[in-house]
Amino acid sequence: MSEDLWPPHALDDPEVDTAPASSGSGGVTLIIPTFNESANVAELLRQLRSALPAGPPCGVLFVDDSTDDTPAVIEKAAADCPFPVAVLHRENPSGGLGGAVAEGIARADSDWIVVMDADLQHPPHLVPELVGEGDRTGADLVVASRYLPDGSRAGLAGGYRVAVSRGATWLAKGLFPRALRGISDPMSGFFAVRRRAVTAEALKPLGYKILLELAVRCRPKKTAEVPFVFQDRFAGESKCTAREGLRFLTHLAALRSASPLARMIGFGLVGLSGFVPNLLALWLLTHAGMQYLAAEVLANQAGVLWNFLLIETLLFRDRRRHRHWADRVGRFALLANADLLLRIPLIALFVARLGLDVLPATALALVTTFVLRFAATEALVYLPRGPRAAGRTRPTTRS
Ligand code: GDD
Ligand code: MN
Repeated sequence: MSEDLWPPHALDDPEVDTAPASSGSGGVTLIIPTFNESANVAELLRQLRSALPAGPPCGVLFVDDSTDDTPAVIEKAAADCPFPVAVLHRENPSGGLGGAVAEGIARADSDWIVVMDADLQHPPHLVPELVGEGDRTGADLVVASRYLPDGSRAGLAGGYRVAVSRGATWLAKGLFPRALRGISDPMSGFFAVRRRAVTAEALKPLGYKILLELAVRCRPKKTAEVPFVFQDRFAGESKCTAREGLRFLTHLAALRSASPLARMIGFGLVGLSGFVPNLLALWLLTHAGMQYLAAEVLANQAGVLWNFLLIETLLFRDRRRHRHWADRVGRFALLANADLLLRIPLIALFVARLGLDVLPATALALVTTFVLRFAATEALVYLPRGPRAAGRTRPTTRS
């Protein structure tokens, strides 16, 4: 175990935040997330032995969420390694793969961090090349890419996964053209990044796409790429499930809506989509014989509920913990209905006082109440409450 790179007390105590700015200690911390990889880790360390320079300042930090004996296997294999090897086993595996990598990054204190998988799909001999490329070009982030001329995704099992991976790449690059400029493979899980280019507290990873998270939230100034061939798994099987696909879409939405303007646009789009359940409920209720005004009021609640669910999962995902869900749904519904009530007198006011025609007055009232409702929703439903809340948003309490 290392005493040089990761003070042992920090590893034992999950409350300790060991995220110092780079102390310029030099070297490389290899962060390897593991989930039940006992059949791979010994071979991985064996290959790293021939790839890495012996001894500090290079070291390996496994961030482990396994339910099998992976940590024990690592510790046994580490005895033969000339460089320090540490295992951070997480009892609370929050954030999955991305959460594990972010915890590793927060603890690393070397100039460079390299993130790689434990299943040997990422060739260990490329580790020095990634860092070397960064040093040579002055880049803050060096990505191992499957989409450069000499790279390939040979090990990505099946045409289905290749298509999904390609589609996800296009989607991400379409949504983040600037942040991902010069990164041909934003889905890659193999990259080197300078410690000082990452603000560990800024990372709120969700699922698999930690590189995307890092590129979008930390915006490293200069990036470079190195081609690589995505190998077959050495042993075991992928932990990537269909659920990860859903998480990826939520992750994209969370990243895209990080700025207030983007959040407001998202809020508007969700509001527009709410017409569908609203009209559907109206149709159902009136066909069931309900009087139309009562049906209008009820159907509107269907739209409100729809909007609430989408806004919660897509826009304010990381701000939900400040209030109980019943409190949030109540406040949200109150604001949505107040919006309706406010609109009619506002239209009357615009017509009477500003001399507007009904149509422009209605449009102006719609825009006004929309902006008001957006601002009120942010402030009254999703903003942390009072100074006490600051303590609750520390990264160590993130869930
Ligand atoms: N700590 C931790 N917690 N590690 C995890 C978890 C988790 O919940 N889930 C997976 N891992 C580890 C695995 O043990 C492995 O070392 C690595 O993360 C990658 O997991 P795989 O299950 O092998 O992922 P994959 O091969 O399907 O996907 C890889 O390639 C994709 C490119 O298509 C990953 O690198 C993805 O990030 C990458 O996008
Ligand atoms: Mn894999």
